[in-house]
Amino acid sequence: MNAAPLSTMTTDTAAPRTAIEPSILYFGTPVVLLSTENPDGSSNLAPISSAWALDRTVVLGLGRDGQTAQNLGSRPDLVINLPDPALWPAVERLAPLTGRNPVPATKAQGCRYEPDKFTVAGLHSAPSHTVRPPRVAECPLQLEARAEQVRPDVSGDFVIVEAVVRKVHADPRIVVPGTNHIDPATWSPLIYNFRHYFGLGPELGHSYRTQTPVQTMP
Ligand SMILES: Cc1cc2nc3c(=O)[nH]c(=O)nc-3n(C[C@H](O)[C@H](O)[C@H](O)COP(=O)(O)O)c2cc1C
Repeated sequence: MNAAPLSTMTTDTAAPRTAIEPSILYFGTPVVLLSTENPDGSSNLAPISSAWALDRTVVLGLGRDGQTAQNLGSRPDLVINLPDPALWPAVERLAPLTGRNPVPATKAQGCRYEPDKFTVAGLHSAPSHTVRPPRVAECPLQLEARAEQVRPDVSGDFVIVEAVVRKVHADPRIVVPGTNHIDPATWSPLIYNFRHYFGLGPELGHSYRTQTPVQTMP
């Protein structure tokens, strides 16, 4: 498969669009599980979909009142764990939980305090190499990082975190053998699409900038 063929340019340009006021704009981004360190040295774990990478920096958007934002304001180490689509039930078990006690009034209705989110989610911790919080053993991709900048967003309700990645751990099954490349044919992120969970469909094509070696079938 090569770069974009001309046939993808046959979209109906006359198709109507409806002006709407959606309550959320979560248009489909990967889910990450952030492990951070609580004040007592225990670990917090939180699902986040506002995450994207710029070279070695991962930008995160976090609710100001959550335990994760509080932790990163004082203890900058974190692990950005990437679950695959099969892990969505564990992610959803984490959804109504906070590591903050008492639960702030700004949290969603039904949110409750949970000091041991790993156990409740059915996930296991693995020690990190360069940061204090643990990795999530079940996640095929784990990025050890440090929050170098934590600042309020324009609304004041969120903080924007710039985390610089220090070490990457990958399940060998998603790595092109003998290289440092993640194989996009075997790795799929878990996508949060307007509060519904999806995996990726089959590959459509690739960027002209890809550096992943082409895999030939045995
Ligand atoms: C799939 C998913 C994605 C989420 N994305 C975000 C996000 O991008 N930013 C955010 O602040 N909260 C997000 N949340 C909500 C937090 O996980 C939730 O507020 C949680 O209580 C945070 O835990 P903490 O208070 O222990 O940090 C998401 C929840 C789920 C289930």
